[in-house]
Amino acid sequence: MQGMAHRLGGKVALVTGGAQGIGRAIVERLAEEGAKVAIGDIQLQAATETAEAVTKAGGTARAYRIDVTGAADVENAVAQIERDLGPIDVLVNNVGWDKFELFVESLQETWDRVIAINYRGALNCCRAVAPRMKDRGHGKIVSLSSDAGRVGSTGEAVYAGCKAGIIGFSKTLARELARYNITVNVVCPGPTDTPLLKEMMKGREKVFDAMVRGIPMRRLGKPTDLANAVAFFASSDSDFVTGQVLSVSGGLTMVD
Ligand SMILES: NC(=O)c1ccc[n+]([C@@H]2O[C@H](COP(=O)([O-])OP(=O)(O)OC[C@H]3O[C@@H](n4cnc5c(N)ncnc54)[C@H](O)[C@@H]3O)[C@@H](O)[C@H]2O)c1
Repeated sequence: MQGMAHRLGGKVALVTGGAQGIGRAIVERLAEEGAKVAIGDIQLQAATETAEAVTKAGGTARAYRIDVTGAADVENAVAQIERDLGPIDVLVNNVGWDKFELFVESLQETWDRVIAINYRGALNCCRAVAPRMKDRGHGKIVSLSSDAGRVGSTGEAVYAGCKAGIIGFSKTLARELARYNITVNVVCPGPTDTPLLKEMMKGREKVFDAMVRGIPMRRLGKPTDLANAVAFFASSDSDFVTGQVLSVSGGLTMVD
């Protein structure tokens, strides 16, 4: 960390879904790099605990209860964060959710929930934050997609569609916002050791073992593996990189 620290000194970042899992590692990493971090999560208690841990480690973080599926909720929270911490320089769309269902057996209620959280959630956050970044003439937007969105994943058809949607959406936003000095990039995790993965793999332990054997590096991702990539896209090290998609998955996918 020495030498790399404080790439984000004086910056304000909003990380959605930052209470646990990959989001929590992103919050901790951005705070280590000097950012003041707003954690937006539906689990306010867990988000508060994460903020307290960051504060204890010498960083700055504050928890906000946000449901990314509600546009008005997101808009109000973004205004509040800017009043509390200052203009948002970095937006990390990290919220995601899925439930294993083969498509032919899938329920429309599940589709609606998956689409609202994984696709509309990112749209709501970008719609609230991007105009503010545009007015200020700079910004960094990083969205978590998934290798499922690049190559598909059995039992995750609608989720994979949303995650592919995040890629197309981000490339378009990158084109529209480049002239305002705003970069928009995408990080795709493969299977990563988080509460979400544990929940999805319950009762499917054999599939889980085969999945890990299929990863060239033969291990799950750690949340910090993803945080490293997000920190790059959040910092000025990536100022000339936009509309790009980076898989952080131990070599699981190697698409062009
Ligand atoms: N874990 C994996 O194997 C894996 C693989 C590929 C992609 N991803 C993606 O990485 C991202 C992080 O996943 P994770 O495994 O850390 O998940 P996780 O479930 O462990 O954490 C997600 C966080 O988002 C919050 N959240 C959920 N719905 C929300 C909403 N509507 N509004 C606000 N907050 C909400 C949860 O409270 C939780 O704190 C997601 O976008 C996920 O799709 C994860």
